[in-house]
Amino acid sequence: MLTGAGLSAESGLGTFRDKDGLWTRYDLNEVATPEGFAKNPKLVHEFYNARRANSLDAQPNAAHAALARLQRARPDRVTLITQNVDDLLERAGAPDVIHMHGALTGALCASCGHRWPAPRVMDPDSPCPACARPATRPDIVWFGEMPYHMGRIEAALQGADLFVAIGTSGNVYPAAGFVQEAGLAGAQTLELNLEPSATVSLFDDVRFGSATAIIPAWVAEVLDDRG
Ligand code: APR
Repeated sequence: MLTGAGLSAESGLGTFRDKDGLWTRYDLNEVATPEGFAKNPKLVHEFYNARRANSLDAQPNAAHAALARLQRARPDRVTLITQNVDDLLERAGAPDVIHMHGALTGALCASCGHRWPAPRVMDPDSPCPACARPATRPDIVWFGEMPYHMGRIEAALQGADLFVAIGTSGNVYPAAGFVQEAGLAGAQTLELNLEPSATVSLFDDVRFGSATAIIPAWVAEVLDDRG
């Protein structure tokens, strides 16, 4: 299963490419690339401090709760991959979430690679707890960087019976290519989204609607079918 910003939209966190989306208000080159961070680490920290505050103040919605329920019911069968950097799935009770684009709750030292739980507010002058250099950054995967956990993700795609994409526009790779990889490996593919994604034609089945409407209903079907 792959989730995107549409999963957290109804928790008030907004999306990237919808009307008023984040990338309509910020230049992603300035706030979501290593070059942007090198040029203006203060701006980048301010951007992620605001997103971290929004995320920590947000509540999981019924779609997060449904996916958490599904993974708890089938821990050996459900791989939850998210492009989102919020922790709403974890706070809804999901036991194992793969954050391929990193997480706002994580901090990383750009100098020594040390990782630690991010404070609510990060500052470019704060010293790394391990090497003391002022090189702290949010532990977020920026454009041009390699997403995390790709080995585990590839293995899950190769072994999947069913690949479900939820709340993602299918614009950013490698995530947007997962449907093809899973399909070629023999999985059935399903898109659950508010509107057709850029890759909708690659899915065997699609259902449209808001996440809090269609995800709980779909999870109930899956669990009730199998008891
Ligand atoms: N319920 C379900 N889907 C929704 C809802 C909702 N309430 N609201 C919006 N959507 C859908 C939109 O139709 C769109 O297809 O969620 C998708 C959001 O798309 P994007 O804003 O592009 O977000 P996402 O696909 O997660 O972006 C992928 O791009 O900028 C990078 O790293 C960033 O992880 C992000 C990646």
